[in-house]
Amino acid sequence: MRLDKFLVDCGVGSRTEVKTILKKKQVTVNGKVETSSKLQINETIDQIIYLNRQLSYEKFVYYLLNKPSGVISATEDNHHRTVLDLLDDDARHKEVFPVGRLDIDTTGLLLLTNNGQLAHAMLSPKKHVDKNYLADVLGIMDYADVLAFEKGITLKDYTCQPARLEILSVDETANCCRVNITIREGKFHQVKRMVASRGKEVLSLERLSMGPLSLPTDLARGDYRRLTEEELDSLKEFGVSL
Ligand code: URA
Repeated sequence: MRLDKFLVDCGVGSRTEVKTILKKKQVTVNGKVETSSKLQINETIDQIIYLNRQLSYEKFVYYLLNKPSGVISATEDNHHRTVLDLLDDDARHKEVFPVGRLDIDTTGLLLLTNNGQLAHAMLSPKKHVDKNYLADVLGIMDYADVLAFEKGITLKDYTCQPARLEILSVDETANCCRVNITIREGKFHQVKRMVASRGKEVLSLERLSMGPLSLPTDLARGDYRRLTEEELDSLKEFGVSL
């Protein structure tokens, strides 16, 4: 690959910044100062040093974000901030994208990566990846709702696969309840529509887990971090190279 692409991918700077850095003779390749952006390097063999720091090439990166409300889970949008606006330049240079979508007002676990194969595998309906949500609901859900979820809720255009509804608490006076919902699909507004089909309304929705990944309790809303080695290991079940 070209030296400038390598440096950009390693988060050294933008293409223009990298050009300047090279001109300033701040990069060596195998011990020799290099100033040409176009130089072809082998990222797996060559030793590239920028300001005394040896750079190692990471093809794929994985970030776990605690999505706040008010941002869109897309890579660009004309009207709203996107989840990419929450990341640093390093992550953005890697061209990560969200694995699946959460509504603008949904919070919680969102995986971002530039590994398209992993995203594809995790979103494939054939893989039946569980997504678990905590929801505050207007109206009181009951055992009839649990059974309806178990059976598979029929929406206007679609019949959902069986889902698990657990009622965590009920506030009769305020006419609301807190529930935990697990679905295996990811249709548009699916949880909200399933709850609405039972005559109730989702007031707030937070994703707690997706497949083997859980929302870390110490990750503040709006914060993100790289996946840990254990979390990466847990993604091996999807059978794609990470
Ligand atoms: N279901 C919804 O209705 N919204 C989400 O953001 C995720 C699941």
